[in-house]
Amino acid sequence: MITIAPSILSADFARLGAECRAVESAGANWIHVDVMDGHFVPNLTIGPDVCAALRPHIQGTMDIHLMADNIEPLIPAFAEAGADVLTIHVELGSVLPGLCARIRDAGIRTGLAINPDTPAAALSEYLDAIDLICVMTVEPGFGGQTFLHHVLDTIGEIWERTGARAITIEVDGGITPETAPLAARAGAEILVAGTAVFGARNSTLTPDDYHSNISALHEAALAATGGACKGAEAVDTRIHHGTDKRR
Ligand code: DX5
Ligand code: ZN
Repeated sequence: MITIAPSILSADFARLGAECRAVESAGANWIHVDVMDGHFVPNLTIGPDVCAALRPHIQGTMDIHLMADNIEPLIPAFAEAGADVLTIHVELGSVLPGLCARIRDAGIRTGLAINPDTPAAALSEYLDAIDLICVMTVEPGFGGQTFLHHVLDTIGEIWERTGARAITIEVDGGITPETAPLAARAGAEILVAGTAVFGARNSTLTPDDYHSNISALHEAALAATGGACKGAEAVDTRIHHGTDKRR
């Protein structure tokens, strides 16, 4: 049960709708949207209006990763924009319980992202309020960074801590055919990949390349876990995990 989620942070920003359709045609059924506010992280990307404009171009899951610190007013806007998953950062601290409840109340699956050097224990009190944990394997803010191998231990620890709960582990940052197997073996099921799918910014890759890039990531991760891929349907119906979740 491995899903590749292309991050459109590395897509052609002048053609975002077409880029979403192209990666879906190339086999992706999750689209990862990196929203950055220029304050929580030192980069500024897109907001709810762009997500709403993209929604008709995305058949599958619109997975929004919110790197922002004034979240509350944004939740209704992202709900209106058609978010399927809305992930906020555990580093926000004391405001989290209310925010997680607001996201759930809006009918959106709730994710918590955790930065590379934040201890896994920071997630503990929220495990009954969330559906997904996004483990950052780079410092948030930019695509094209190198995978931080020390976070593999955190993924493993999170996997243990989630127990039998229906929480999906996503990994985000520096995923390549070399690192995808490591993350999958540690327990990640959703692998976010920007550069490894779309190429570096201003690259001249085509949708044919997207297909081979997504396949390469998928196959590398599946080979490492030895599992047959059921894709995002399994994740979406929350039938993964359970007593035999360790592959
Ligand atoms: C970083 C973003 C990631 C990033 C991944 O803040 O959350 O989603 O775009 O890009 P690559 O795959 O290039 O590391
Ligand atoms: Zn992201």
